[in-house]
Amino acid sequence: SSNSPTEVISIIKHLYDIFYNTTKAIFPQFEDPICVISSQTNKSDYQCNSAMPLSSKLKQLNVQMSSLDIAKKLVENLPYSPLIERTEITGPGFISIFLTKDYAKTFISLILNEGVKPPPMKKLRVVVDFSSPNIAKQMHVGHLRSTIIGDSISRLLEFLGHDVLRINHLGDWGTQFGMLIAHLEDIFPNYVNESPPIADLQAFYKESKKRFDEDEEFKKRAYDRVVKLQSGEKNSTKAWQLICDVSRREFQHIYDLLDVKIVERGESFYQSRMESLVKELDEQGLLEEDEGRKIMWGEKTEGEIPLTIVKSGGGFTYDTSDMATIKQRIEEEKADWIIYVTDAGQATHFKSIFACAKRAGILDPSKIRIDHLGFGVVLGEDGKKFKTRSGDTVKLSDLLEEGTRRSLEKLKEKERDKILNEQEIIDATNNVAYGCIKYADLSKSSRNDYVFSFDRMLDDRGNTAVYLLYAYVRICSIARNLGEEFNKQMPKLKKETPIVLDHEKEWKLAKVLIQFPDIIEKILRELNIHYLCDFLYHIATTFTEFYDSCYCIQKNKQGEVVKIDVSRVLLCEATAAIMAQCFDILGIKTLKKV
Ligand code: ARG
Repeated sequence: SSNSPTEVISIIKHLYDIFYNTTKAIFPQFEDPICVISSQTNKSDYQCNSAMPLSSKLKQLNVQMSSLDIAKKLVENLPYSPLIERTEITGPGFISIFLTKDYAKTFISLILNEGVKPPPMKKLRVVVDFSSPNIAKQMHVGHLRSTIIGDSISRLLEFLGHDVLRINHLGDWGTQFGMLIAHLEDIFPNYVNESPPIADLQAFYKESKKRFDEDEEFKKRAYDRVVKLQSGEKNSTKAWQLICDVSRREFQHIYDLLDVKIVERGESFYQSRMESLVKELDEQGLLEEDEGRKIMWGEKTEGEIPLTIVKSGGGFTYDTSDMATIKQRIEEEKADWIIYVTDAGQATHFKSIFACAKRAGILDPSKIRIDHLGFGVVLGEDGKKFKTRSGDTVKLSDLLEEGTRRSLEKLKEKERDKILNEQEIIDATNNVAYGCIKYADLSKSSRNDYVFSFDRMLDDRGNTAVYLLYAYVRICSIARNLGEEFNKQMPKLKKETPIVLDHEKEWKLAKVLIQFPDIIEKILRELNIHYLCDFLYHIATTFTEFYDSCYCIQKNKQGEVVKIDVSRVLLCEATAAIMAQCFDILGIKTLKKV
């Protein structure tokens, strides 16, 4: 009724704000009072849990006030909120909060009439550094994980309206190129005029490494080629480009299959910036000599490893390039927020980079948010590092191919191929396969290791992409099956039908849907996309409860529709719309039919 918000908001944030301000008004002795709001539980819609910690804080200031009295006082002084129907104090001072239905009704109408909109927030320039495989080396499951997580984080930020720069920090620079170039000169002397037919770059890499380790003359020439390359000499640069192109094509194939957009900006981009950066760091007196190397400390805390800024031979390292990179992103790209998505093994590296950037005055953490999103190792079903049976790294294109083969098998097993046309079969096969691979990756907390199992991810029961995709198609078909005449009226019905949430299960479903902005806020805070997967699964299971106990469409014995509950059909539509938005953020394509 009165003043219900007219836009999508995070309920937790709304409750936090009013409880925070109330607390501050009652206890002016706290500059920044504790305020704890927890999400929906079985017993209450939301809950405020700050009375207990507030009581102990007051005790420290020699003020005796029981948590129960604090809770009472908070409730008495709470301003009117169109979201809160009533509160109830339980136990030592927990404040249970019960929601009005008004906001939920507005929320559902907004979704039906305007589409799924993000909660309002300040627009930021965000750099997301992900995927980032290395030239001439195998792109492995770790890079796949980075690709999938980084793409999804980027999709989320783009949905929120941020200005996102997706960067592929390719490992395309470094001493290994010396031996690759020297080897290329011997194998394809005519490379300057004619593109060399390198079919297997990994084998090529192994061959040149072998020569490098065994042949002194070759080794010398390799070193010379690095110097030539770094000074921009024409032929070495050409050779380097040709080698990079071979890898590039392989990587692009994977990105195309997974529908991932990313801009290449490899380590080579920073060569001149590394040179000037090292000069600056030296002038600032931040570099220390260490057995011929130049190193830099960040905070010099226990366990910190200093960065190697210049090697004893004078060359630069991964550390140097990341220092130049962070500077470029802050000063040239004007980033407000930088996110690095790599395996958790690089945590110390990034900790040192951030500390050194701070020390050098490049990074001001009070102005710029910086995150290393480190993820766990991908394991095989045997619990060991993911490898092929012969112990090699798994080729990603082979892995994706196996996914589609298995997905098609499943489709045939369930005889779905009989009701789909040719194009629909291809789409279903691919969307299920890639959807499952992505979902399996995203639905685990990214901090943990995870076991890669096709059998598990292609199971259509439980929290899997297949289950959710099928659930989604069924929800979409409820309105669609009512025929063209009905669907033509849909826009009008969406505008004019009051949403009814009288049945317990209708209300339960609505209360799940309105959590969408809460979930997004939580993901932004913790940078863990699996909350969105849990949310999708929660929607699907709550929807089933609703659908089992609330008729949407009544049919007679002849199967003719005799009654349509339009509000409920619209609730189905809103559910589908939110699910579709979640799938989109996860980078999963939905199915039309099953
Ligand atoms: N190429 C690196 C690897 O394969 C990942 C690079 C991540 N990005 C960065 N700015 N260091 O491990």
